[in-house]
Parts: sequence; C-alpha cells; structure tokens
Amino acid sequence: MDLFEYRQGRLYCEQVPVADIARRYGTPLFIYSAGTLRNHFRRLAEAFAPLKPLICYSVKVCSNVHILELLREEGSGFDLVSGGELYRVIEAGGDPGTCCYAGVAKTDAEIRFALEKGIRMFNVESEAELQNLARLAADMGRRPRAALRVNPDVDPKTHRYIATGRKETKFGVDLARAERVFREFAASPAAAHVALTAIHIHIGSQITTVEPYVEAVNKVLGLVRSLRAAGLEITAVDFGGGFAADYEAGQALDAGVFAEALVPLLRNENLEIIMEPGRFIAGNSGILVTEVQYIKAGGDRTFVLCDSGMHHLIRPALYGSYHHIWPVDPGAKFSPRQRTRDEVFKGMELVDVVGPICESTDFFAKDRHLPPVKRGDLLAVFSAGAYGMTMASEYNSFPRPPEILVEGAEVRLIRRRGTYADLVAPEKDV
Ligand code: LLP
Repeated sequence: MDLFEYRQGRLYCEQVPVADIARRYGTPLFIYSAGTLRNHFRRLAEAFAPLKPLICYSVKVCSNVHILELLREEGSGFDLVSGGELYRVIEAGGDPGTCCYAGVAKTDAEIRFALEKGIRMFNVESEAELQNLARLAADMGRRPRAALRVNPDVDPKTHRYIATGRKETKFGVDLARAERVFREFAASPAAAHVALTAIHIHIGSQITTVEPYVEAVNKVLGLVRSLRAAGLEITAVDFGGGFAADYEAGQALDAGVFAEALVPLLRNENLEIIMEPGRFIAGNSGILVTEVQYIKAGGDRTFVLCDSGMHHLIRPALYGSYHHIWPVDPGAKFSPRQRTRDEVFKGMELVDVVGPICESTDFFAKDRHLPPVKRGDLLAVFSAGAYGMTMASEYNSFPRPPEILVEGAEVRLIRRRGTYADLVAPEKDV
C-alpha cells in the first residue's frame, strides 16, 4: 500500500522514524513518501502501458512544486483546473504541452495565460466556454486543441459530494447534447480557431469498482463512432481520474484491475488516451502528524485535543471521510498489523480526535478506538496526501503546516512552516 510502516512499535516513513522528523520540524506537519508517489505512478503507467496513455497527474490533489517536479521526472503530465495550477506546473519545470485544463468557469485571463503557454488541450465544459475559447484564440492568433467534457450519466457509487458523472451535476455536457455541440461547432466559423477533436470525462473520485468506468467508456466510444461516421475527426479520449486510495487496507483496487477492464475497450480504437489520476498516486503517500495537547473528559466522551484539525485536513468534516489514526510511537504492545477500523487491541479506548478550531465539525474521528494517549504524544493521520494540504486554510489564523518529502533516508523540507507574518503579509502589502 505505501512506505509508512511500524517497526518495533515505531512508525517509519521509508527509512526515517516519523518522530525524528516531527522533533526536528515541529507539529503539525505533512510528511510525504517519495517512494510511494513513484510506486503508485509506476503501477498505473505499467498497467495501462498497452494504451501508451499520457498520465496527467491531477494537480489539485497535492500541488507542492517539489511533488510536481518528482512526478514530472517520472514522465507525468498534468491535469489543471486553474491558472494557478498552470503556474505551479511551470514553476516545477513542467511542460505546458503535457497539460490538460478542465474547470467549469475559466476566466478570460486564465484562458489567455494557458493559450500563451501553449497547453496540450482545453477540456471545455460548456458551449459558451467553447465560443469564448474560440474568440480569445482568434484574438491571439492561436488554434488550441480542445476536448468537450461529456457527462455520461453514470453512477460512480461514491460520496455524493465527489460524484461528477451524474446528469444533474454542473460538470460537462450530457451525451445527447454533446453530439449536437460537436456537429454544430464543426460547421461554425469558430471551428477555424479551435480544433475540437477530443472527448473528456471525469465521473467522480474515490471510485472502488470498475463498472462505472466501463459503462462510461462504452458510452463515450459510442459517441466517438457516431461523430466519426458523421465525418468529424476525433483523435483522443481523456477518461479522467477517480481511482480510489486505500483509506483502509483493501479498499483500493490495484491499477491492474482497472486496466484489465479498460485496456481491451480502448486499445484498438485509434485514439490517444489521456488519464488524470490524483488520489491513487498521492492519497497514501502522505500523513499528517499532530501532537496531542490535552485529554478532556466531557459528558460520556473522551476528547483527544490536537494541534491540527479541519483547517489542515477538512475531509472528515466535509465528507465524513474515514482517515486511519494511530500513535506515531505506540510501542510494541500496540503495534498495528493492518490499517482498518476493525483492528482493536485490549486496552484501547474509545475517543473523539478533535482539533483546536471553534467549530463542532472540527474533528478527525469520532468514536474511534485508539491505544491510550497522553499530552505530548504524536498521532499520525494516514492517507492525508490527497486533498489535505491543498484544501488547508489559515482559518482561526493558524499558519499552514510545513511539508516534508522523504526519500529513503533523506529528509527534505519542501515547504516551510507558515508564520504569523505570513498571515498578515497580503493585508499589509496594499
Ligand atoms: N480530473 C478532474 C477533472 C477532476 O475534477 C478530478 C478531481 C480529478 C481528475 C482527480 O480525481 P482523483 O483521481 O483524485 O479522484 N476533495 C475531494 C475530492 C474532489 C475531487 C475533485 N476532482 C476529496 O477530498 O475527497
């Protein structure tokens, strides 16, 4: 699953004890394992190799420039949803020619920036955006390539907040309308300014079964055939991201299982294949380490009060997501064998793990069995590599945590801890 492992009752990230890193850099902090990021990327690349896909890592998932740089070295392209993400990719030495840009409300400034940098493809989400892209491209004397984001109306069987492929969401254009958009666009003067030659889908996130992909891809292939039969040129399909991470051991499917279902469907279609995984690569590659400040008994509950919370990892508050939590140095007696909520040792206590924010949604876990912990102990919140730091805020004026990248025995600070001065700098710089 990943390179975070307990040895003799101590948590290691690759070859380094997590407690040593926390001692050196303080808490709270995010720690990423470079080896895990690489392994996960390579597993996908190998499984889908028969399609020779362009793998566009989804920047929103974990966007530190050093992590983007690492994935660029692995051969990754990038899935973007903002001008800021394109800026990050360029800062990381990434090639805009490997970037696909989705997003339902791109501004003119963002579109111009992406045109100027020469990105690989715009993933357009509406007819109005397509017209606007054509207008701006004509203005700048460019002819970008575009995919139309199609909404295949499948149920990805995931949390409703992260399901995007149902008909009623704001994403993409539904299948029947898509066909019309392609035909009408091809016949319009705007076609001189945009090469609309690809189809994009992204049906949701944390998807743990292959069926929704098979259903969606089959629908898209039907559209490809019918557009080609009408004489339109369709050269690429981008089937988005969504492969699950292992929040609990055994949840995520291996890349090979997805590939086994999708490669035969796509391999003989004479299509360039693009995919946009995020969580599958980064989810299990990071942990959030927090220090227990106090223990408090309130009513019938015991609260473990930590120096991190929803401002650094909002997923439990926003989606009710499960993140495994365990002491960093539990000792041999409580050394876990697996990461599931079912692993209960004698002597464990039922607690709520909560943060310092003034909101009752500020929790990492409720009614969770944990080995006994006390003030000063470190807790690891696992699978925090995806949608952790990128969704973090400075709410309640807590500076953002630092980020550390571990590779083997090497420990690198890849983002310094925020300071009080950072909190007010943009307000003073006016
Ligand atoms: N492509 C597009 C167009 C997307 O919108 C997304 C994610 C991805 C790719 C990557 O999906 P992944 O492979 O990571 O599942 N904050 C939520 C997840 C939001 C997903 C947004 N879109 C969470 O923490 O669960």
